Amino acid sequence: MKVLVATEKPFAKRAVDGIRSIVEEAGYELALLEKYTDKTQLLEAVADVDALIVRSDKVTREVIDAARNLRIVVRAGAGYDNVDLAAATERGIVVMNTPGQNSNAVAELAIALMIFMARNRFTPGTGSEIQGKTLGIHAYGHVGRLVGRKGKALGMEVIAYDPFVGEEVFAADGVKRVGSIAELYASSDYLSLHIPATAETKGSIGYDLLMSMPKGATLVNTARKEVIDEEGVLRALTEREDLKYVTDIAAGNQAELDEKFGKRVFATPKKMGAETAEANINAGLAAARQIVDFFRTGNTRFQVNK
Ligand code: 3PG
Repeated sequence: MKVLVATEKPFAKRAVDGIRSIVEEAGYELALLEKYTDKTQLLEAVADVDALIVRSDKVTREVIDAARNLRIVVRAGAGYDNVDLAAATERGIVVMNTPGQNSNAVAELAIALMIFMARNRFTPGTGSEIQGKTLGIHAYGHVGRLVGRKGKALGMEVIAYDPFVGEEVFAADGVKRVGSIAELYASSDYLSLHIPATAETKGSIGYDLLMSMPKGATLVNTARKEVIDEEGVLRALTEREDLKYVTDIAAGNQAELDEKFGKRVFATPKKMGAETAEANINAGLAAARQIVDFFRTGNTRFQVNK
């Protein structure tokens, strides 16, 4: 059995060592393709593998077609919008993610980005505090919940919207559940986005929602670039000089945003929400364990293409 770890953005060494131990102790072979620069390298590397571990690496139909022995793909992380689920399902390939394993890293970054923007991106001048402000969480899953709890610990008033989460979860965290997306945005000084990129959410966050936010509000995107209506955000930032936008994933029109809005916008140079050793270890090792468990017992608990 051959397991390939294909990571354009590599895991921390300790995570790779841990994955290797799990795979080799199970009697399987580990192959490593890191920092690849061309998809042909991935196409070659998958040719003879039974299992594949990736991060945001694109597992397209072409990749799946090239992987004749492939039986399982594990996205070491939360969002699996980088995997062509239809192509995998057609071939009977199981696709899994590792929910929750890298969430704390992303949540810490979301809080860090809020403070960074509140302090004028650490440039001279009077900033503001996040304590006492209202933090709106759009989607109360693993990351959203951690951001909510951290926000509360920092003295923020936390509200959230998520129609798929039970009232008891919000109640346990002391977070107010609001009834609509419109109400969430209209009430949030900081809005932290945690929705996945799906057909329904793509391009759904734009002009109207931003324009409804309170004076001086900041939209924080550590989710996916695709959920943003980039032209709408540009228009809202143009019309409202008090609004700010910070993102862990550079927008398609980021150069224009930077040029037009200066300190009111910021994008990390490369997606870094899950870029901690802890997150790499948690997600990477979970992925390796899920693969071994799948081959040994048929466990498909974290399968996303059921
Ligand atoms: C996720 O969906 O888990 C995060 O976006 C992290 O992605 P990454 O593994 O590419 O950093």
